[in-house]
Amino acid sequence: MSRLQRHILYGLVAALLLALLAFVGGRHPLAGLLLAIVLSAGLAHLLAYPIGRGRAPATGMRAFSGVAVAALYLALALLSFRESLWAFLPSMFFATAGGFLSGLLRGRGRLARKRRRTGSPSAAAVDDPTAVVDSFHRLYYESNAFTRTSWLGVSALKCPLDLWIYQEIIHDLKPDLIIECGTASGGSALFLASICDLVGNGRVITIDIEDKPGRPQHPRITYLHGSSISPAILEQVKSAVAEEDRALVLLDSDHRKDHVLAELRAYSSFVTSGSYLIVEDTNIGGHPVAPEAGPGPMEAVDAFLAENSAFVIDEGKEKFFLTFNPRGYLKRIK
Ligand SMILES: C[S@@+](CC[C@H](N)C(=O)[O-])C[C@H]1O[C@@H](n2cnc3c(N)ncnc32)[C@H](O)[C@@H]1O
Repeated sequence: MSRLQRHILYGLVAALLLALLAFVGGRHPLAGLLLAIVLSAGLAHLLAYPIGRGRAPATGMRAFSGVAVAALYLALALLSFRESLWAFLPSMFFATAGGFLSGLLRGRGRLARKRRRTGSPSAAAVDDPTAVVDSFHRLYYESNAFTRTSWLGVSALKCPLDLWIYQEIIHDLKPDLIIECGTASGGSALFLASICDLVGNGRVITIDIEDKPGRPQHPRITYLHGSSISPAILEQVKSAVAEEDRALVLLDSDHRKDHVLAELRAYSSFVTSGSYLIVEDTNIGGHPVAPEAGPGPMEAVDAFLAENSAFVIDEGKEKFFLTFNPRGYLKRIK
């Protein structure tokens, strides 16, 4: 039904109701009075809460406009009962007040219910911010947007909010060396190298078991091929690190708990005091995404922290609420 047709229909219904009111009131003033109350309250209620899907629920202003129209409706009704005008004055007051209150309360109730249903942050964040963050986290992760994320045209399997944190860390620390386990297409290594370009310091060593062709070439990036925990790779990394190097480490290779724990044990010694050992994808295994992944980076962090007191979790790096590395920003404090 078009908007115009709907308005014509409403007009006809209103005219019919008015005629009914005039007819009933003319014969039985008391029945007319009751009918006028019911009709005006109902009309104010309907106007206060618009009919139709997707329409905004009533607000105070809309409820008020409902009252204004209901009052007009009643005034018209009163014209047809001029002789009993005084009897209708109190009814006009109670009907409009009742319509106003009912419209307002119903509108508020609907608004609250809608917020609960859609999990609208404005309502729910006050009660339970974690639920809001977790539900957005799942939405974001399950959309696979991170697999369609790139840096300067090269795929980077990252949440941009984490990349921003990396940028802040690199700016603040100006590391001489960044070691990344898990290269994939090289987008994250290129990102790290680009930030090093901007701050004017640092080189990137990135390790992957796979030698993928077409990775970006950059004067600050060195690619190593092999397992990140193999003695051969660890030897190459050791020989690339100078004693005075400020080093930052990111773990983003095999995400199974045992492998990440082995990486934590092997690479933590490269991290200088005040710098970070970033354990990526601690969100999998149900924290809060991919519960089917089983014990992974988060569980490795727990085991590592239980045996190493030189690192603490820096929750300040989770300030954007959404991070793929919850409890994964480990700061070396000694
Ligand atoms: C999640 S991807 C890395 C994503 C990349 N850092 C990025 O953000 O675009 C994981 C990578 O780790 C590599 N990998 C798996 N097991 C490994 C291991 N034992 N040692 C080193 N790399 C490994 C895989 O080949 C894969 O390319």
